[in-house]
Amino acid sequence: MRQFTGVDKLIHSFDQALRSLVPGATAAHRENPANIEETQLAVSEARHVAGLMRVNHSGEVCAQALYHGQALTAKLPNVRREMEQAAIEEQDHLAWCEDRLKELDSHTSLLNPVWYGLSFGMGALAGIAGDKYSLGFVAETERQVSLHLEDHIRQLPEQDDRSRKILVQMNEDELHHRDTALNAGGVDLPTPVRIAMTGISKLMTKTSYYI
Ligand SMILES: [Fe+2]
Ligand SMILES: [Fe+2]
Repeated sequence: MRQFTGVDKLIHSFDQALRSLVPGATAAHRENPANIEETQLAVSEARHVAGLMRVNHSGEVCAQALYHGQALTAKLPNVRREMEQAAIEEQDHLAWCEDRLKELDSHTSLLNPVWYGLSFGMGALAGIAGDKYSLGFVAETERQVSLHLEDHIRQLPEQDDRSRKILVQMNEDELHHRDTALNAGGVDLPTPVRIAMTGISKLMTKTSYYI
């Protein structure tokens, strides 16, 4: 098997980052769950949904970065395949959120490179700390993402079934990712780490809604 040098890994990471950050560069592997007719949204409703979907899209950029950082540093002898599968499902989420933003005539967040960099660094650090922390980090991230998604589903205008179908499928996947990471030996993270993660995610949701 070919041995990858540090430069190979650097180029690979850069390629992954670009694919996550450049609009249109990620294609979904599964069909978009929003397979029903568009319904009419008032201007203010559409604006709110776009804000929510922009936050969710940023969250998926973070998920990409987390899995990419983890893959670089964690050993994961038994669950590498499962983690790769989760990362592929995150690509679907990213593409579906982007599609919905386009339908709403809106855009992805300008801050995504910042979130990608932060999450990549945290994912890589958790991998260096050890697999049980790395998996614990995945589990905690997925848990927090799921809470956001459930909140956003509640906030959607009643008639916006296209957005709802996407978010419901994403939530189902995230809970599965969380359980996979926990079953693989992910541990509870120290409280200060969890507080820091909540803080960063609050900052992300507050800003990506607007820009
Ligand atoms: Fe996701
Ligand atoms: Fe996930």
